[in-house]
Amino acid sequence: MNRVFSGIQPTGTLHLGNYLGAVANWVALQENTSIDRIYCVVDYHAITADYDPKDLMKRSVNLARDLLACGLDPEKSALFVQSQIPEHTELAWIFQACTSYGELQRMTQFKSKGDTQSFVSAGLFTYPVLQAADILLYDANMVPVGEDQVQHLELTRGIARRFNTLYGECFPDVKPLLTEAPRIMSLKNPEQKMSKSSGEGHFLALDAPENETAKMIKRAVTDTGPAEDGEMSPGVANLFTILKALGATEAHTSLMADYEGGSLRY
Ligand code: AMP
Ligand code: TRP
Repeated sequence: MNRVFSGIQPTGTLHLGNYLGAVANWVALQENTSIDRIYCVVDYHAITADYDPKDLMKRSVNLARDLLACGLDPEKSALFVQSQIPEHTELAWIFQACTSYGELQRMTQFKSKGDTQSFVSAGLFTYPVLQAADILLYDANMVPVGEDQVQHLELTRGIARRFNTLYGECFPDVKPLLTEAPRIMSLKNPEQKMSKSSGEGHFLALDAPENETAKMIKRAVTDTGPAEDGEMSPGVANLFTILKALGATEAHTSLMADYEGGSLRY
């Protein structure tokens, strides 16, 4: 039996990158009756970054609500909060003894998050080990995530193999399930991925009013005219990716034809 597991941190409002890279896939997988689905609000991961303890629980509940609004159906998928199942952290400790320090040092998410935080905790460093425990605790073999999580899943595979070698065959090989838009870029700086932590103007919140979303799309960084080398700029490419991923196929086709014909500028 195939089993899907994925998690999301209660670190603020859902944005379009979360949706197109991960949550849309969580919902789509519900149509496949031959797989089990388990989805988790990973609050213990969220405490590795600067946060306010007073509102963490509220943020977890709000995120669960937003996931239901995106189409997660509790009749079809399990949805729960990580800290309510103590075995996640218990397995994470055992896995820490199967994880090499050097491997954790190579995690790009640790390097980029560590550079932006005033307090870099040991938890931020061992964060991917807890992620491996989340997945393998349920023997899940498929993990729908955005592209930024692929490296963590490689680490998960390594941990499972090392555990299996030491203690006997126990955990499956996991593989990432990516959408057609696995990396949505920031609207303000299309060289970096869309993320809540980059601040206003960078991300499209799913709960923003329509006029605000329209304003943000209009302000998105595109280009300063046709590129000399004929390459589409990252900002323009990102808007085309978003348009297509949201199902606006006709608009995508006609705007792409305009772009290629040189009549769609800036
Ligand atoms: P997070 O908010 O970091 O817990 O991310 C939740 C899920 O959204 C993960 O599967 C991420 O890989 C995915 N995700 C986050 N940002 C993006 C993005 N800009 N493009 C595509 N997927 C993303
Ligand atoms: N690390 C993931 C992120 O930043 C969140 C996460 C935690 C996760 N545990 C997981 C994703 C297990 C998939 C499976 O987005």
